[in-house]
Amino acid sequence: MKQTLLKKFEEVFGSTEGAKVYFAPGRVNLIGEHTDYNGGHVFPCALTIGTYAVARLRKDDKLCLFSMNFETGGVGECTLSNIEEKNTGDWRNYPKGIVWAFGKKGFQVDKGLDILYYGNIPNGSGLSSSASIEVLTGYILKDMFGFAVTNQDLALIGQFSENQYNGVNCGIMDQFAIAMGKKASAIFLDTADLSYDYAPIDLDGAKIVILNTNKKRGLGDSKYNERRSECEAALAALQTKLDIKSLGELTEEEFEANKSLIGDDVKIKRAKHAVYENQRTIKAVKALQDKNLELFGKLMIASHDSLRDDYEVTGIELDTLVEEALKQDGVIGARMTGAGFGGCAVSIVKENCVDTFIENVGKVYQEKIGYAADFYVVEIGDGPMTL
Ligand code: GLA
Repeated sequence: MKQTLLKKFEEVFGSTEGAKVYFAPGRVNLIGEHTDYNGGHVFPCALTIGTYAVARLRKDDKLCLFSMNFETGGVGECTLSNIEEKNTGDWRNYPKGIVWAFGKKGFQVDKGLDILYYGNIPNGSGLSSSASIEVLTGYILKDMFGFAVTNQDLALIGQFSENQYNGVNCGIMDQFAIAMGKKASAIFLDTADLSYDYAPIDLDGAKIVILNTNKKRGLGDSKYNERRSECEAALAALQTKLDIKSLGELTEEEFEANKSLIGDDVKIKRAKHAVYENQRTIKAVKALQDKNLELFGKLMIASHDSLRDDYEVTGIELDTLVEEALKQDGVIGARMTGAGFGGCAVSIVKENCVDTFIENVGKVYQEKIGYAADFYVVEIGDGPMTL
């Protein structure tokens, strides 16, 4: 891989002098969905698939960006002084947003760069290809300019650029999972204060299988921001009586006793999901520690039901995949993952059943939806690195 990337870099930028090769993973969330902007817990892990980059400093102030995934777009150039200018719908807004965000945080990028990117995370699949580019770019800047930032800072800068530069009001989960990823472990993160623990993932021979609906989605054009404001409105109503900072502070019982304060059925359902999903995530991590994989799987299924019925972010494609997945032999659990509205589902499947699982679910999906789903058997990998 490294050689292929360097060869391409030479082709595009003339030579490989001063060039270094980097990688940042994608992520999948095992449980804890739409809880990260509600002060709740999440349980994601980094993947061994992700984004590669070859980068080197320039002498002038040009940022020259090329992607092997969008080769026809060629090299896009901008200068550091006009970094604020965005091009609609261009992937380059992610790396540009990071350079901009470093500047805003007091880390001035004062030289240009040539960067070539190559990602093997399917675009728009909900496995965080954009957060992967963001954390990777931050990691490159840290390395090339010697900025004193931790990997956790890279996550926060990534989220800041996504919120402020790219206009998506996302939580911290994706960038955190990528920047802090650890091989064979998931990250049990409390988004209320960013305290976290690594939980070794021992699936007793079972595999993590990701099911891609191939229904394209982007957070920007989804109802993501709408769900977020519904939760904020529900919280504000609860705060008229309760001394809480987020929905993540409530137990199920406290929520049930006070939900009438919200006074709107839809917002009650949204808040219910946030509260129950947070509690489910805590229970799921405990189940894993107790080696109770069966309970972990049941909680994944309950998570999907709640995302379908109360949070209403699944849709026929994700529901079909999960419904069919749960009918198969050797399935421990399955649920949608990420923002929803398309994208991917995640399942845990006994190893000797994986092939039949993929065949059967794929067949029904094609028949019902009219186009094919994709399946990836994934491994949990490390955070960003220099190769
Ligand atoms: C997207 C966002 C995350 C998180 C998930 C839903 O992936 O980027 O911050 O809110 O959706 O859990």
